[in-house]
Amino acid sequence: MKKHIITKNISSLIILFSFILFLVLFIYFSPSSLESALLLILFVLFNSIVLFFLKQERRKELEEIKNVIKKIRLNEFQDSGEIFLSDSLKELETEIKAMFSRSQLDIQNLKKLEQVRTEFLGNVSQELRTPIFSIQGYLETLLDGALNDSNVNHNFLQKAHRHTINLNTLLNDLIDISMIESGNMKMSFRYFNISQFLKTLVSELSPEAEKKGLSLIPNFPSSDLELYGDKQRLKQVLVNLILNAIKYTEDGSVEVGFTETIEFGIIFVRDTGIGISDSDLPRIFERFYRVDKDRSREQGGTGLGLAIAKHIIEAHSSKIEVKSTPGRGSEFFFRLKK
Ligand SMILES: Nc1ncnc2c1ncn2[C@@H]1O[C@H](COP(=O)(O)OP(=O)(O)O)[C@@H](O)[C@H]1O
Ligand SMILES: [Mg+2]
Repeated sequence: MKKHIITKNISSLIILFSFILFLVLFIYFSPSSLESALLLILFVLFNSIVLFFLKQERRKELEEIKNVIKKIRLNEFQDSGEIFLSDSLKELETEIKAMFSRSQLDIQNLKKLEQVRTEFLGNVSQELRTPIFSIQGYLETLLDGALNDSNVNHNFLQKAHRHTINLNTLLNDLIDISMIESGNMKMSFRYFNISQFLKTLVSELSPEAEKKGLSLIPNFPSSDLELYGDKQRLKQVLVNLILNAIKYTEDGSVEVGFTETIEFGIIFVRDTGIGISDSDLPRIFERFYRVDKDRSREQGGTGLGLAIAKHIIEAHSSKIEVKSTPGRGSEFFFRLKK
């Protein structure tokens, strides 16, 4: 670009200089009309030659730019380092390189997104298959005669029924995920009393813990602290955290509570369960990720609960965090504004 500007300036200078020379010659020597005509022709000829070379130079540059753009269109470059323009076009070369890198990045992101979508669809089909096959199996066995066998008929129907419940849970989670993805999850933020909220939750979920011989312990003071959030969505998060804690704890207890700082309330769910290894910890918030797939499925888990919880807490401008020691237990917690 610089060279181009210099060339352009030199050409303009030459034209200007020849024009001044022409004027000087004209004024000083007061040439005759024939001489004037000759001088004029010389002036025009000289400048035409200068303009011709300038045009040639520009045509070469345009040709160069056109070739690079064409090569980009034909996908002939793997890396921006392969793009090269002559010295006069270095600034343009930098811009083209930046544009090339940007579109490479966009393409990469699109490919990644496409892969995530394909994987997600694969996972959904896989998850649907298990309950549907089981229901089909039980119904077929019943139709083939087991219906009249009082030893198994009730049990088979119960099992089929449990799978329809799992199917329904999966469907609800999928609807939530799709609402989150499309940005259609409506949130309704209000101040609410956290003690009251957790008290209700504990009494609703205590029977689930008792079924496994665990106790669900409320660990918070009776206070009039109000926190800001979407109560219904937060209930969804805490139900999943508490049910997870119950699911993945064989003995001991599950504690639910909150602590307070100047600005925030910190809500936690603690258990004395199997814990999560360091290698699994960063992945448990991914969709469909479960440390033990069979165990989770067995207990009606979809592997979507924590992914949904993460989104909901992020919609509260907060972050869900976890500390865990394998064999000792886990603690999930998040902050809410006062
Ligand atoms: N309290 C916990 N203790 C141990 N592992 C847990 C706990 N909570 C979650 N996990 C692990 O994280 C995975 C993902 O949890 P989640 O998304 O709620 O799916 P789901 O409960 O349907 O399996 C679980 O399958 C389990 O492996
Ligand atoms: Mg869960």
